[in-house]
Amino acid sequence: MFNNNFTSLKNFNTFGFDIQAKNLLVIKSETDLIDNFKAENINLSSKIIGGGSNILFTHNVDELLLKNEIEGINIIAETDETIDIAFGGGENWHKIVLYCVNNNWGGLENLSLIPGCVGASPIQNIGAYGSEIKDTFQWLKAFNLKTGELEIFNHSQCNFGYRDSYFKNEGKNLYFITQVCFRLSKNPKINVQYGDIQAILDQKGITHPTIKNVSDAVIEIRQSKLPDPAVLGNCGSFFKNPVISLSHFEKIKENHPSIKSFPVSETEIKVPAGWLIEQAGWKGKKVGNVGVHEKQALVLVNYGQGTGLEIKILAESIQKDILEKFTISLEIEVNIW
Ligand code: EPU
Repeated sequence: MFNNNFTSLKNFNTFGFDIQAKNLLVIKSETDLIDNFKAENINLSSKIIGGGSNILFTHNVDELLLKNEIEGINIIAETDETIDIAFGGGENWHKIVLYCVNNNWGGLENLSLIPGCVGASPIQNIGAYGSEIKDTFQWLKAFNLKTGELEIFNHSQCNFGYRDSYFKNEGKNLYFITQVCFRLSKNPKINVQYGDIQAILDQKGITHPTIKNVSDAVIEIRQSKLPDPAVLGNCGSFFKNPVISLSHFEKIKENHPSIKSFPVSETEIKVPAGWLIEQAGWKGKKVGNVGVHEKQALVLVNYGQGTGLEIKILAESIQKDILEKFTISLEIEVNIW
């Protein structure tokens, strides 16, 4: 079952870095996990990869690398209004979104075209265009690398936040997510509040949008702003949008009246990191073999021959500059290995 010849992870990370894994073990089922744990192959030091769309590899992987390829679509419960469906952790995210959209089960359509797999989606509570997976999430099943047990996590146990969950904190590197269940609506409510979705529907003369129309609009927006990893290596947003105090925001606004923002609470406000990076002059900048995407400054790209270290150094330069110019610490969103 082991592949002891070094395996290139070039096709397993969306930056497209030619990193080698010493031992790659493809996991197709929960039984694969249990058997390999009993055989003492899997332990706490094992690493996990899904779609490789949120990992920055800076060196080869010496530990056992587990690749999540657990498939499966199971209807768990159904009423006249809702359907609970569990998907295997290794299922491709966009594929399952389209499956739900085509069945007219609403809730995931705003999350169309996000790269990666189902098992990774709760870890950073993936979100886009006014929707996050916490809005439809029911439960997940995860294999504990320390005890070898399968555990169920309900919504509150996942402790979801903005691009955050239990699995990025106390549960970090401890769980392999085998299944995720979502509750979807058979009478979908359309959510077109965010950004350009409504404008695209208007342009097309769509007055009563279906979730398919919303999904198509999201796909159109993403394709126009975000680079296709198959063409230009990237990991989507590299940084989180920072949350700052209202007083700090007002100060920045004095010099930059065009600053965009999203309300968070009475005292705090979220500002787009892409806007900050663009204002600081980084948008479209190329540094060696890597750079900042020309259409969305939150995305760092590999022009083909780049390395993870080059991206890391570029990210650190951006962080330093944003701190100096705006007194804001940008937090990196992707996992650095
Ligand atoms: N903006 C700029 N310059 C830029 C980029 C953005 O001025 O280079 C401004 C835009 O004009 C807009 C605001 O920033 O007013 C927000 O931009 P956008 O709608 O593109 O979204 P974002 O805040 O940059 C977040 C997510 C994306 C998600 C979009 C849409 C994070 C870290 N990123 O980006 O998620 O697709 O919203 O919901 O929250 C990802 O996580 O990989 C990802 C792509």
